[in-house]
Amino acid sequence: MIWPRSALLMTALALVSLVACDVERRKSDAELGLNPQQSRGRKIYDNYCDRCHRPYSTKGKKGPGLKGMFAHQYLPQTGLPANDERVSDIIMHGRPDMPGYSQVLSAQDLQDLLAYLHTL
Ligand code: HEC
Repeated sequence: MIWPRSALLMTALALVSLVACDVERRKSDAELGLNPQQSRGRKIYDNYCDRCHRPYSTKGKKGPGLKGMFAHQYLPQTGLPANDERVSDIIMHGRPDMPGYSQVLSAQDLQDLLAYLHTL
């Protein structure tokens, strides 16, 4: 059977909207309930971490997704303890495929970033 043009068009549109729904809209800081320190941390995250780590998914990008990273005793990829001390080490000194940020982030930036990471 040959489909009329309009049916083909409708099918195409339906497919496009299905795909579009899969891309989650970015939530505002208010929607996420972030306090001022966590919002500052989110900006730092967006600047330096987002290109390699998804914040709200465990799906990998260049590095593992960081959703719920403090929820378990150990970090899923490196197996290091999921605490502020070890995570600060990772951020400041980097990993084999991750740059370190000790030259970029101040002590305050690091605290703000950690505050945000705890909300993931
Ligand atoms: C160029 C890409 C890249 C950037 C930018 C980057 N990372 Fe990573 N990160 C990685 C990779 C790759 C790993 C996995 C390293 C490993 O297996 O040792 C990783 C590992 C981690 C881990 C450990 C995860 C686990 O499950 O063990 C944490 C936490 C982390 N990164 C946080 C950050 C934060 C916070 C930033 C921003 C300050 C950042 N990363 C920036 C690539 C990146």
